[in-house]
Amino acid sequence: MKIIEVSDYKQMSVKAAQHLIGKVRSADSVTLGLATGGTPKGLYGELIEDHHVNGTSYKCVNSFNLDEYIGLSKEDPNSYFQYMCTNLFSHIDISLENTHIPSGMAVNLQEECNRYENLIEQAGGIDLQVLGIGENGHIGFNEPGTSFQSGTHLVDLADSTREANARYFSSIDEVPSQAITMGISTIMKSREILLLVSGSSKQEAMKKLLENEVTESFPASILRNHHNVTIIADKDALTLV
Ligand code: GLP
Repeated sequence: MKIIEVSDYKQMSVKAAQHLIGKVRSADSVTLGLATGGTPKGLYGELIEDHHVNGTSYKCVNSFNLDEYIGLSKEDPNSYFQYMCTNLFSHIDISLENTHIPSGMAVNLQEECNRYENLIEQAGGIDLQVLGIGENGHIGFNEPGTSFQSGTHLVDLADSTREANARYFSSIDEVPSQAITMGISTIMKSREILLLVSGSSKQEAMKKLLENEVTESFPASILRNHHNVTIIADKDALTLV
């Protein structure tokens, strides 16, 4: 794993944007894996600014998001569909039909998981997957204990994850208890992974990621077995390393 240490959140976002823009500009078509949460918001802001200033086009981009909550409609302000529209899609020239997010409202959730996994395969797989990391080492919504062999699947969210994400909802009771997420094997099939980490709340996670063994009890540890991972982390996140 290649580690790039930067001073702060802004620099993490700028570096990540440069990497992603380079990828988008260098190919006729690119399939991106996208993440939600607080971490990539700055990256998306940089992409929007670059799109306006330098005209980088996303017409040739397909995207697949990592995850979506169960029970939230596309219109729900807390759905990841809305997050992506608000923070990125509505501000660049990507075609919405080329963007993909699992449906948390599907009648048959298992079928939806299979459909999503197949869709990624049919698109030829993901060229560059953007990831954040949960304090407990989750990637996407793959909580500790998730099989490294897992494809897109339905998950029960850990209490700690619901608590961490409660800041976006009016109360913790409103945070859904389930989600659909790309699995660990789905993520590991990406040709390249860009992991973004910022802030002191991620110190422990970074220490475990870099120093502990590869174990299903810390999902992100599997990234050590991937041949093309770049971590862009700020000083606060690397204090214990
Ligand atoms: C969320 C998302 C993850 C994200 C992680 C960290 O629950 N499902 O994709 O990487 O938690 O979130 P944040 O970036 O807000 O710290």
